[in-house]
Amino acid sequence: MRDGKLSNSIAFINCSQVVTLAGPARPRMGREMRELAIIEDGAMLVLDDRITKVGSRGEIESHIAPDCEVVDAGGRILLPGFVDAHTHPVFAGTRADEFEERVGGATYQEIAARGGGIQATVNRTRAATIDELIVGAKRYAQWFLRGGTTTIEAKSGYGLSLEDELKILRAIKRLDKGTSLRYVSTFLGAHDVPPEYLARRGDYISLIIDEMLPRIAEEKLAEYCDVFCEDKVFTNDEARRILSAARRHGMGLRIHADQLSFSGGAKLAAELGTVTADHLEHTDKAGIAALKSAGVQPVVLPGSVYALSSKRYPAAREMIDAGLALVLATDFNPGSSPTPSMLMVLSLASTQMKLTPAESISASTINAAYSLGRGAQVGSIETGKVADFVIHDCDDYRQLAYFFGVEHAWKVYAAGELAFDRTA
Ligand code: NIG
Ligand code: FE
Repeated sequence: MRDGKLSNSIAFINCSQVVTLAGPARPRMGREMRELAIIEDGAMLVLDDRITKVGSRGEIESHIAPDCEVVDAGGRILLPGFVDAHTHPVFAGTRADEFEERVGGATYQEIAARGGGIQATVNRTRAATIDELIVGAKRYAQWFLRGGTTTIEAKSGYGLSLEDELKILRAIKRLDKGTSLRYVSTFLGAHDVPPEYLARRGDYISLIIDEMLPRIAEEKLAEYCDVFCEDKVFTNDEARRILSAARRHGMGLRIHADQLSFSGGAKLAAELGTVTADHLEHTDKAGIAALKSAGVQPVVLPGSVYALSSKRYPAAREMIDAGLALVLATDFNPGSSPTPSMLMVLSLASTQMKLTPAESISASTINAAYSLGRGAQVGSIETGKVADFVIHDCDDYRQLAYFFGVEHAWKVYAAGELAFDRTA
């Protein structure tokens, strides 16, 4: 626990590579994403919850005090913890039944149109207590940690009423305090129009703008606001109204854009100056150019493309080549992307979107951290940063994406404390 007793001084030695991601205090753009600032045969000192020194083994060993605990990494690699910048981790039940139907030929949109999909999870989540939601989400928190993820962005969006959205956001706050995982919360009341508002959707938009946003802002329950901007979900105009209202409450903006169809969502993100535009499977060249000129970070989610058996991956290669500061995330959710695994995402990024292993590492650590306003705290191994890092059981960072279906994380530290130990 971050609030509990902190360890004092620990030295980590004998790392075949310390993949530091050290560099300028901003996200890596375009070609810069290949620069990982690796220290071969590296070592690191941690004091309490902070990184205090990083260097070659020789440099660090002369600074190890006699009472300092020493962890021998045994020639393994040390990386920052993954930062997963797009997840939906608080929900009740699963949708394994729909998964089976989709395998049989039904599409995600068909299932949603008959009241399944997001709505099915909303029904179960509304029926659950906050304690039940937390018990479920703690299980997923363990999955994130054992996969080497130490920070996640966490969206609401399976409540779709004032009380149920508050319940989810309060659960996220308690999970942040009560687990080793760090949560950054996002309000996604505009995830779907609930059935009781289908005949009067304008009233639901008003509920979001006039009641949910002010209350959430007052209780400081969300740093960001997101909208699922998509054909048959929320239109560009509705997304513009909701996100503009969220901005007036001081929230940062994110948007689900161009996921299942082209709606000009990337252009809307650029117009509004959102922090991120997420998904982007159908975004065209003009949309990519618009993101670039507005400085919006694209967040691509290949796990959802894979799990929906689609072939249409976002044009992530073109986005990097256009100079964008790309982010990779899992989109962990019970429908379109039931995986918490950043390693799975790294594999998909290389095999399906032609990202180099180095680009994928930048996209899932430092760039993701900046996209959440946490670039000064996490996402790299640098003096002064929070000691969120992972020793992976391989000797070259490229093996993380190359050996797939393997849980490489060997020891995971959050704020200087051991949060997962594969040897235990
Ligand atoms: O990011 N696109 C909308 N929301 C999620 C899916 C949520 C669900 O199916 O439960 C997504 O893919
Ligand atoms: Fe999503």
